[in-house]
Amino acid sequence: MRKVIVKASVEYAILIGRGILGQLGEETKKRIQPCKAAIITDTTVEKLYVEQAEKSLQQAGFTTCRFAYPAGENSKHIGTLSDILEFLAEEEVTRQDIIIALGGGVCGDMAGFAAAVYQRGIRFVQVPTTFLAAVDSSVGGKTAIDLKAGKNMAGAFYQPHLVLCDVDMLDTLPEEVFADGIAETLKYGVIGDADLFEKTAKGDFRNDLEEIIETCVKMKRDIVMEDEFDNGVRQLLNLGHTLGHAIEKRSGFAISHGHAVAIGMHLIAKVAEEKGMAEAGLAEKIRKALENNNLPVSIDYSAEEITEGVLKDKKRRGGEISFVFPTKIGHCEIVKIPVEEVAELVEKALQ
Ligand code: NAD
Ligand code: GLY
Repeated sequence: MRKVIVKASVEYAILIGRGILGQLGEETKKRIQPCKAAIITDTTVEKLYVEQAEKSLQQAGFTTCRFAYPAGENSKHIGTLSDILEFLAEEEVTRQDIIIALGGGVCGDMAGFAAAVYQRGIRFVQVPTTFLAAVDSSVGGKTAIDLKAGKNMAGAFYQPHLVLCDVDMLDTLPEEVFADGIAETLKYGVIGDADLFEKTAKGDFRNDLEEIIETCVKMKRDIVMEDEFDNGVRQLLNLGHTLGHAIEKRSGFAISHGHAVAIGMHLIAKVAEEKGMAEAGLAEKIRKALENNNLPVSIDYSAEEITEGVLKDKKRRGGEISFVFPTKIGHCEIVKIPVEEVAELVEKALQ
């Protein structure tokens, strides 16, 4: 089992291995006295993995209860959060108890937010079941729900007490959901690891998943330890996200987060090249890597539609929005763009 330690406002371990879901109870017990464990999951993951998680927790001395919401991004709203909080209260979960987020990024973001606000904060454990959640969302403590105005518009920085990633669970992912995680993995490559990019770009790396997840979470760990609250270097992790979030939202979440980030990453690389900030051929390298992995690289929406979403993005601070521009594989820069220039940027991206 691989182990990565994060020293943020909470110090915690990320455990990565095959067949380790059965160790969830014992690994949790090493860090948290047995108590009530409220498992938050979605209806798909519930059928696949909740019994094994419950059994492991119970064998280690935890009592369990569970709440499953309908799978998908369309559940990531205040109504589901409210249902989770009411469930915790009905189950008489106390501040000594814990939440287990068993699922993908939607589950981790929502259950983490519930953990942050229920009784002003209870501890939680992330058990990522998608590739995207394994390489990115289960680590770093960003929790959120979507509002009508946009993605992740309400949330909290709230670190888990443990992340346990059983890589075997990724075997049941549909190809397109697995590809969402590839988009985020390529993102880590473009941000700061050319070797990771090359390895992932070829599209045949299933045998190296544990190593790839470890590489990504170590990079995220380093960034989070430097800038836990997203005021500086952490914004690099938003590569492809400003355009991506607008695309995801415009599609009514028919386009998944990872697929939208893939499009956003390619489009912003085109703009970086056009602005003379990136080395020639960068957008093409990114395009090929995405296409090799069956990820989309463009979208039919108008510049006006995307601009409207971008201007509502929570990364807007006053009259500026931060964009992450790749300059070469392994290096990106954060640039503040005045809101008046966003429409022109989006036009260039779509050309
Ligand atoms: P998701 O949680 O909706 O999971 C995608 C689908 O896969 C769902 O239908 C789910 O039921 C299914 N699934 C999950 N695990 C499975 C398994 N092992 N086998 C079969 N099916 C399985 O979505 P996601 O792509 O994991 O996460 C996307 C979300 O993550 C977005 O809301 C995004 O904003 C968020 N995110 C957050 C962060 C962060 O740092 N907090 C980072 C990146 C993305
Ligand atoms: N996924 C972006 C972040 O964690 O900052």
